[in-house]
Amino acid sequence: MEWNLTITGNTPLNPSHFLLELQVPSSFPPPRPGQFVHIRIGEPPCFLLRRPFSIFSFQSKKRRIEVFYRIVGRGTKALSQKKKEEKINLLGPLGTPFNWDTGTVPLLVGGGRGIAPLHFLYQEMKKTGIEPYVLFGFKNAEDTVFRERFSPEKFLLSTEDGSAGEKGKVTDVLKKHIPYFQGKINKIFSCGAKEMLQEIHLIAKKEKFACEVSFEQFMGCGIGICQGCVVKTKQGYKRICREGPVFNADEIAWE
Ligand SMILES: Cc1cc2nc3c(=O)[nH]c(=O)nc-3n(C[C@H](O)[C@H](O)[C@H](O)COP(=O)(O)OP(=O)(O)OC[C@H]3O[C@@H](n4cnc5c(N)ncnc54)[C@H](O)[C@@H]3O)c2cc1C
Ligand code: FES
Repeated sequence: MEWNLTITGNTPLNPSHFLLELQVPSSFPPPRPGQFVHIRIGEPPCFLLRRPFSIFSFQSKKRRIEVFYRIVGRGTKALSQKKKEEKINLLGPLGTPFNWDTGTVPLLVGGGRGIAPLHFLYQEMKKTGIEPYVLFGFKNAEDTVFRERFSPEKFLLSTEDGSAGEKGKVTDVLKKHIPYFQGKINKIFSCGAKEMLQEIHLIAKKEKFACEVSFEQFMGCGIGICQGCVVKTKQGYKRICREGPVFNADEIAWE
């Protein structure tokens, strides 16, 4: 569904990361973690394509959704310049959510902006009495936003330059801590770059953990028409915007 929403906040967290807050009407379907919104940044021809962003949080009482984004190009730069009270057009909530039940003992592994859907997942799991383990990896200390929102005793942090938390790629830090997680967790939920997700899948497979991954790759229409977002699975190509962005990692034909 298409919505014209009012911006209630667009706050810089550091020079490259922002938190966008949008007021949604009561008719807005309650989103589930893993789902995304497809934002029209500006008018064509300048901005022909919408840009997809995971839902970072949903506050049902305040009727607000939040989007956490990193400036990487023209669209996200223009988004960062939008002001409170401006209107923004989006489609959503779109895509498939993460899956869990009361028997799930989760580890959430996110890289960079890939922490966005995992933050929402964490909040929703906590509402059902599940306290997930979390491992987030960033480039450097400046990028390590929102760490105070997670229980410190179940939260691990890594940075590539070692300026905060453990030094190294998030997948290397995960490998190092596998003995700690063995016997504790039974499912990994992850979001980030495809190469990272592939490595997470291999680790999960080796350790016999279930694993769901959320892809962040390019999108066109966002609603299943253009085939511009496909990923190869063992059952053929699937659309990230419709059959995903969340997939069972075993389903993907990693190459
Ligand atoms: C389902 C989904 C959820 C997403 N959730 C978030 C989120 O919560 N927060 C967030 O910051 N971003 C998220 N993204 C990525 C976001 O959509 C892109 O960063 C954004 O579209 C870039 O737009 P731009 O105009 O700023 O960049 P462009 O000018 O289009 O590109 C700038 C640079 O970034 C690269 N790039 C652009 N898009 C992507 C991409 N999807 N993957 C890899 N490289 C890319 C380009 O190759 C180029 O080098 C998500 C993507 C998907 C598919
Ligand atoms: S983006 Fe068009 S089919 Fe997915």
